[in-house]
Amino acid sequence: MLIIIENLLAADDVRTFRDRLVDASWRDGADTAGSRSVAVKRNLQLPREDGLARELGDAILRKLGQHSEFLSASLAEKIWPPVFNLYQDGGHYGTHTDAALMRLTEANLTLRSDLSATVFLSDPRYYDGGELVIEEQFGAQPVKLEAGDAVLYPSSSLHQVMPVTRGQRICAITWIQSAVADTSARALLYDLDQSIRALTPGRAKDDPEINRLIHVYHNLLRRWAHV
Ligand code: NI
Repeated sequence: MLIIIENLLAADDVRTFRDRLVDASWRDGADTAGSRSVAVKRNLQLPREDGLARELGDAILRKLGQHSEFLSASLAEKIWPPVFNLYQDGGHYGTHTDAALMRLTEANLTLRSDLSATVFLSDPRYYDGGELVIEEQFGAQPVKLEAGDAVLYPSSSLHQVMPVTRGQRICAITWIQSAVADTSARALLYDLDQSIRALTPGRAKDDPEINRLIHVYHNLLRRWAHV
């Protein structure tokens, strides 16, 4: 399941992000790729310890943490500090799968990647190519979003970034460990939660049917969550 989160970052924030990122200390992204990925990865990346990457990464984490749809869809338990990357001059990232276990020794963080999130920071009118193509149950889905929008997709999916043939594509990526590891169980909980949210307005605060649905939601979450 792909979930598009529109306007995670407001237009002004995205512009500030971009202005600051253009002159950042970009490095070859191959430095951080696994041995199989290095052959297919051609992009630039900000080092994890870079001050700007940390500052903007924290800002993205705050936005995600306040976003009800993200929280409902991800049931996030742990989240990786966002990584910033830049594609230009034909830069691309061929078909790959994200590492299942990620370790960040300095932060004492070990994370099982259940979900990957890409936050688009470049205006799609100013670059060609650069689609994030995600292989899903129903075929390959190309994703190219407005600046400030994000896509959430299963880390278990094969995916690639198509070559950027004009302009620059800057994105932030993060990985999430969900309290509910099973993708289909998480999708059911998300659907149920979205339906409850849609039904609630206009109903009495003590509406018994809504209360029962909330009861079912929490008991399924209790059954499936591991924290
Ligand atoms: Ni990836």
